[in-house]
Amino acid sequence: MKIIVTGSKGQLGHDLAEALAGHDLILLDINELDITDFNAVLRKVDEVKPQALINSAAYTNVDGCEENPALAYKVNAVGTQNLAIACQKFDIAMLYVSTDFVFDGNHDVPYTEFDDPNPLSVYGRSKLAGERYVASLLNKYFIVRTAWLYGTHGHNFVKTMLKLAAQRDKLAVVNDQFGSPTFSRDLAQKIAEIIVTGEYGLYHAVNTGSCSWFDFSREILRQAGVDIPIKPINSHELERPAPRPAYSVLKNYSLELRGFSPMRPWKSGLTEYFKLKG
Ligand SMILES: NC(=O)c1ccc[n+]([C@@H]2O[C@H](COP(=O)([O-])OP(=O)(O)OC[C@H]3O[C@@H](n4cnc5c(N)ncnc54)[C@H](OP(=O)(O)O)[C@@H]3O)[C@@H](O)[C@H]2O)c1
Repeated sequence: MKIIVTGSKGQLGHDLAEALAGHDLILLDINELDITDFNAVLRKVDEVKPQALINSAAYTNVDGCEENPALAYKVNAVGTQNLAIACQKFDIAMLYVSTDFVFDGNHDVPYTEFDDPNPLSVYGRSKLAGERYVASLLNKYFIVRTAWLYGTHGHNFVKTMLKLAAQRDKLAVVNDQFGSPTFSRDLAQKIAEIIVTGEYGLYHAVNTGSCSWFDFSREILRQAGVDIPIKPINSHELERPAPRPAYSVLKNYSLELRGFSPMRPWKSGLTEYFKLKG
């Protein structure tokens, strides 16, 4: 398949380039295609005429989105809308990567694709707006929600924990937010499976199981062989601009109902990350 990947230099974009290597890939990051530029998007999609387009470009700084909502909505909502309009015009299938932060966190069992979103933050609202543009403009679309991504490229929680552990003699990590840490390479491989099917719709795709950020940090340091005390703290002790859901664990229910192979448990994903990092 001929596939455009936007945001190709991002954490997931990098892994998508590897996972989709057997396809005719057109990798575009902001320097090649700014998704907020409507005319540039139309021109590029017309020129390339791919069979599918994967949007992994986003403004992903959750606190940054809260402080600069115009940029959040411009990139995550309007940028996605631009791509969806182009895909509509040239009859191209589109895959949009979305987030667990579309949920408010009031659940105590994992969220499925059949649960109603209710985002708490600008980031979550801007990503949900992107989902709605994709679903309303297109028939041939996939929306893939994921969570707590970390990969070998880009900034993420795993790298932050290892860096802080090297600089400090103790750490304090939030223990009242629960989610599904997901290795971006595993997500990229699942996207590569999904994109070649005609099984359009909404998917959750995360490594299975769940934990708090505190549990996640303990497992990161354990697997890295770093012994340093970590104190569990509550979110209110951090005072960050954007509210986060207390519980945003996702269940890969559509993948299961459609007979896709299950994703591995989050601790095994982390082991694979360390194996690749060397
Ligand atoms: N990271 C997570 O924990 C997480 C969790 C759930 C869902 N997601 C979703 O997963 C997807 C991939 O996330 P990620 O972690 O790979 O993000 P990332 O590393 O921040 O990558 C996003 C890429 O998009 C680029 N970009 C930003 N604005 C753009 C624009 N106007 N036009 C074109 N490209 C633009 C960025 O370039 P610059 O770096 O130059 O800005 C970056 O290369 C996103 O849709 C995100 O919302 C992420």
